[in-house]
Amino acid sequence: MSDIILPGLIDVHTHLRVPGGEHKEDFATGTAAALAGGVTMILGMPNTSPPLSTPEALQNAYAQAQADARCDVGLFAGASPEQIDRLPELASHAVALKIYLNDTFGPLRVEDVPTLRACFQTWPEDKMIAMHAEKQSVAVGIGLAAVYGRPVHFCHISRKEEIELIADAKMRGLPVTCEVTPHHLFMDETDFARLGPLGDMRPVLGTPDDVAALWAHLNDTVDCIATDHAPHTLAEKWSETPPPGVAGLETSLGLMMTAVTQNRLSLDRLIQLMHANPRRIYNLPEQPDTRVEFEMTPTVIRNEAMVSKCGWTPFDGVEAVGRVKRVVLRGEVVVEGGKVICQPGFGQVIPV
Ligand code: NCD
Ligand code: ZN
Repeated sequence: MSDIILPGLIDVHTHLRVPGGEHKEDFATGTAAALAGGVTMILGMPNTSPPLSTPEALQNAYAQAQADARCDVGLFAGASPEQIDRLPELASHAVALKIYLNDTFGPLRVEDVPTLRACFQTWPEDKMIAMHAEKQSVAVGIGLAAVYGRPVHFCHISRKEEIELIADAKMRGLPVTCEVTPHHLFMDETDFARLGPLGDMRPVLGTPDDVAALWAHLNDTVDCIATDHAPHTLAEKWSETPPPGVAGLETSLGLMMTAVTQNRLSLDRLIQLMHANPRRIYNLPEQPDTRVEFEMTPTVIRNEAMVSKCGWTPFDGVEAVGRVKRVVLRGEVVVEGGKVICQPGFGQVIPV
């Protein structure tokens, strides 16, 4: 079968670990993993150490990304009650704002209404607000979208009750969008039993019913596939206090293309979920003369092949229908024969 040509994929949910977690990933390795997976633009999450919730931390991360990124990168600013007065100052170096309503890795959390009101009242109207919201917190996010009449994007939706609530909100015309991850589509709680800490992430893997609901809504309610690439070292994952999170940049396209060959979604829909909708929702710049060539050769996903610094994937041993062969970004070949060949600094940081 001939190669399939796709636009450069956009991952709106990546953890790049700069600053403070460079032993897990850094801009050079994380953006190399992105390109190896056919992803030419990523949005980096703010739950770093320190978090990207002050202008200083965000500016430093932005400058580091300019020096080291191999693909294009935008950064999220993180909402924090302590820094809320300075929130508007963060906008010049950020693509969007991230609000954490539920517990996960890192200290960023918003649990009080005054901080939520300040976010919706002072974050620039032309930039997105994304939320980590689980269970009834999704209703909080929908309520805020309705009250302030501005869009909210829900990260890594994983449960039947959540996707159904978002479907209801959309039906009533509320400005909400959402993403799901490949691990919540291709694994469930029985894989957690098998994988132990390597199958632990936030949100946790769902029940088979949850997974079926995500697939059932993939062609209407779901707006994006996002990886939630959240690398941690194997030593950390096997420690007494394993952090939640799994890598995903290098396995996302192969798994989703496998679903295409199984008629679970069309190739056009895949392009909407992994390119067009991410770009529209976050108002991201076009990448001219950019494409991904995907080779339809059955390929077993292997830890040893991972470019991410963490060096492992929960999908080790799973067969995908193909692999990324070549990636062209702004006219330059950046991946050839599956190998990343561009240097740190080739990527652009947005807003430029
Ligand atoms: C993420 C991480 O490690 O930063 N972990 C995870 O399990 N998804 C945090 C997050 O996205 O919630
Ligand atoms: Zn995440």
